[in-house]
Amino acid sequence: MQAAAASAPLLHVRTVWKKFGDRVTAAGVDLQVGNGEFFTMLGPSGSGKSTVLRMISGLEQPDGGRILINGEDVTDLPPWRRGLGMVFQQYANFPHMTVAQNIGYGLRRSNLDRAALRERVSELLDLVSLPGFEDKPVTKLSGGEQQRVAIARALAPRPRLLLLDEPLSALDEKIRREMQVQLKDIQRATGTAFVYVTHDQEEALTMSDRVAVLNWGYLVQVDAPQALFRQPRTKFVAQFFRGSNVVEGRFIGSGTQTVFDCAAFRLDCGAVANPANPPAVAIRNEDIRINAHSVGNVAEGETAFDAVLERVVYRGIYTDFQFKLADGQIIVASATTNQDLASGARVRLAVKTDRIIPLHAEPS
Ligand SMILES: Nc1ncnc2c1ncn2[C@@H]1O[C@H](COP(=O)(O)OP(=O)(O)OP(=O)(O)O)[C@@H](O)[C@H]1O
Ligand SMILES: [Mg+2]
Repeated sequence: MQAAAASAPLLHVRTVWKKFGDRVTAAGVDLQVGNGEFFTMLGPSGSGKSTVLRMISGLEQPDGGRILINGEDVTDLPPWRRGLGMVFQQYANFPHMTVAQNIGYGLRRSNLDRAALRERVSELLDLVSLPGFEDKPVTKLSGGEQQRVAIARALAPRPRLLLLDEPLSALDEKIRREMQVQLKDIQRATGTAFVYVTHDQEEALTMSDRVAVLNWGYLVQVDAPQALFRQPRTKFVAQFFRGSNVVEGRFIGSGTQTVFDCAAFRLDCGAVANPANPPAVAIRNEDIRINAHSVGNVAEGETAFDAVLERVVYRGIYTDFQFKLADGQIIVASATTNQDLASGARVRLAVKTDRIIPLHAEPS
């Protein structure tokens, strides 16, 4: 038992199922989180993120599967016996208390004497960049400050895992972006593992060591931000991250000899287990190179194809060029440099072949 616990992950959500009526909100979700990891569950509204988080916390019971912490099965333990901290979208501070009293509440079971308590509160306020805020009434603080108090309170008893459900979504854009960086700093400084829920792709990519993408209760892909962004597994993941094209076609051949074929180009793609239906590939907008001539150069390792420019959309730092392929599919190329092109221009587009990503079927 001891040896098993030593090698067990900090958190193991083991094949967890949950249904509300006939709506499946967690479909055999299986994931592991390591010590000190910033792990994010990302997905659209209703995909089951909060449900999975609530099952980890003990606020919700799974219909099937187990929750293990350090190898110990906690599925039947109440929330307060799981050694976890929680932060929600609403600030959830006690409005009639000062900042110090709010944070101290998180330490009520710790038996610290007054001096030690004061020291721990001050240490936590430094951690969340609110030094000297002890005696302020918590309701006099801004939204971002109140949320930092809530985070300090949740971290006060040194939980083995902190669960956060969209903690920044009530804040305005500018504060939210600042807080993303701060939260990551706080997480690094404490070394506490975070399981973070958001529907905001940028937030997930900014802060996380790994991201799990959820859709309709299914875990679609778990990867580091870069890998998720550059190697989407399914059409859903590719389209969830802005700036990706999905081009449909068909796979010819079988086994390790598959070729993806659409009206614009053909691509050797080897073995594609469980391909998307209809077959499709993802190409990021910024991976498409625009040749202003229909007979433009094609470099080693590139796939090239013809397209007709339909529309130019200026986006500030970059410009989106919307092209129509031979079969009518639309593909968008983003470029930071000015392209002297008018609508109707026939051009040759080129993509590094390894940046054309064959997509897999959605889990079901
Ligand atoms: N207690 C409940 N009773 C009935 N249905 C519920 C309950 N909790 C969640 N659901 C349903 O389960 C589905 C998933 O909900 P959940 O709150 O987990 O999604 P979410 O990914 O957190 O969404 P959001 O981004 O909107 O917070 C939704 O359709 C929701 O209506
Ligand atoms: Mg939710």
